[in-house]
Parts: sequence; C-alpha cells; structure tokens
Amino acid sequence: MFYSIRMRAELKGDHVSGAERIVRAEELDKVLKALLRRPREYDRMNITIEKIENLLCIPKALPIYSHDFKRIEEAHDFAISLLKREGIREDIALRGLELLKRGPSPKGGNMRGAVLMDIESGERLEPDKERGIRTVRFDWKNRNKIKELLKERGIKRFYLERLLDALALATKNVYCGVIAELCWSDDPEYTTGYVAGRNIGYVRIKPMKEEGNPIGGRIYFVKGEGLENLINCLEGTPLLIEDL
Ligand code: COA
Ligand code: AMP
Repeated sequence: MFYSIRMRAELKGDHVSGAERIVRAEELDKVLKALLRRPREYDRMNITIEKIENLLCIPKALPIYSHDFKRIEEAHDFAISLLKREGIREDIALRGLELLKRGPSPKGGNMRGAVLMDIESGERLEPDKERGIRTVRFDWKNRNKIKELLKERGIKRFYLERLLDALALATKNVYCGVIAELCWSDDPEYTTGYVAGRNIGYVRIKPMKEEGNPIGGRIYFVKGEGLENLINCLEGTPLLIEDL
C-alpha cells in the first residue's frame, strides 16, 4: 500500500516551502519527520496523507543535458531553439519567454502553478491565471538511489534536491501530454532553468535570469484539445519514476 504525503508551509500568509513524497506505509514515520524539518521558518504547516489506489510506475526519467552560457540572452536564444525543435512555433515560444521575464501572473508577479499555453494560438488555457496548474502526486521509486546516481554524474549539492524534484515533475508532465516546458525558479539565488520535452529531454540551461531576481515560473506548451484529461493527469494521477 502506498501513500501520498504532501507538506506546505506558510510564513505571514506567504507560501515558503512545499514538498511531496509517495511512499509505502512502513516509510511514513521517517518521511513525515523529514518533511517536518524541511522549512527553515514557518508559522503554519499543512501535511496531507492520502492512500493511493492506482499507482503508475514508469521506467525512465527524461535524459538530462546541461548547457552554460555567458549571457542570459544567449541562454534564452538556446531555450527558444530547443522549443522549436520540439515543434513549438517561434512566435509562441517567444510569447512564453516574455511572459516568464515579466512575471506570469496577471499582476506581473509569480504564480502558484504553471501557465498552460496553447501551441496553436498562444492563448492561456489555465482556468485561474494567478494560480495556474500544479503538477502533483509524483516521486522517485527510490529517491536515495537517484540522488546517489546524480552525485556520481557530478551534480553538486546545491542543485541536487531541486534537480530531483524538477526532473521528476518534467517527466510526469511529458507523460501526461505536455508538449514542452520552459521553467526557471522564483528563488532569487537560483538562475539555472530548463526546457523539457519528449524529444529534447530535460535540458538544464544557465543563466536564465540575473542573480537576485525573484521572478520565475513554468510555461507548459499544450494542445487545446483534451485539456481536461491533461489537467486531471497533472494534478491527479499518482506516478512513480524508476530510474534515470
Ligand atoms: N506555490 C505557491 N503556493 C502553493 C504551492 C506552491 N507550489 N503549493 C501549495 N500552495 C498553497 C496555495 O495557496 C494553495 O492554494 P491554491 O490551490 O488556491 O493555489 C494551497 O497551498 C493549497 O494547495 P494544495 O494544492 O491543496 O496543496 P497540496 O497539499 O496538494 O500540496 C505541494 C502541494 C505543496 C506538495 C506542491 O505544490 C509542491 O510544492 N510540491 C513540491 C515539489 C515540486 O513540485 N516542486 C516544483 C518545483 S521543482
Ligand atoms: P520553483 O521551481 O519551486 O522555484 O517554482 C517556480 C515556479 O513554478 C513557481 O513560481 C510556480 O509558478 C511554479 N510551480 C511551483 N510548483 C509547481 C508545481 N508543482 N507544478 C507546476 N508549477 C509549479
């Protein structure tokens, strides 16, 4: 029997930390304690524990590639070229990029989830444009094993947890039918972003923004048809990933 455990913490009304795991009943105690210790500071924490009925498992994550550039403009040009390789029209890819640069919320700041951008019209399809859509209910079958494999590949500590989460998230997105994804973090210290897709894999790109910039987000490039199924999969389908 598997359980989904999700933790979110707030400080003065702002979301400051979120994490999730899918684990067996006998691991619940240990994982719960680890999630409790995760946020540095908070005044409110919610933990949800949910039994999972139909858990899917896929054998492999997207393959990882990394590219470093001297200038943000070069990194952005490269990101656009990757999106085009995944079949996204240049004007639509640029629209996504501009949205992330400005801050994708209608008020110009960060959202609480991802933008769904129609690959034909460039229209935004997420029902709530301040919230967006969140990919949830995903994890690695053996998180520690994947962490060790990433370390062996030379991934530094600073990047490890984020890469674990973001790679699993991007892999689930492609599984659910997202054509391509463009992302960079809203963490001011974290300037590495990525573009992901079925053909191009998971491509880490640095620097996608200036250090100190608190604006970030995710654009999921999607087909307009089958939107309800896509959202149900992203939010609702529990998925484990077995290996790199
Ligand atoms: N950012 C901002 N606010 C968030 C949030 C996030 N990532 N996740 C939850 N919240 C806040 C929102 O206010 C949300 O209300 P909303 O649905 O109107 O936006 C409220 O918490 C309730 O969220 P809910 O979706 O019910 O939370 P949940 O219990 O299903 O947990 C998390 C979701 C926290 C586990 C998930 O969002 C998360 O952060 N996962 C961590 C790993 C991950 O995906 N990282 C992505 C970057 S690598
Ligand atoms: P982060 O990588 O955690 O810095 O998040 C960057 C941006 O991605 C956030 O500002 C949100 O807009 C969005 N986001 C965060 N969590 C999720 C998620 N689980 N699914 C989709 N988008 C998310």
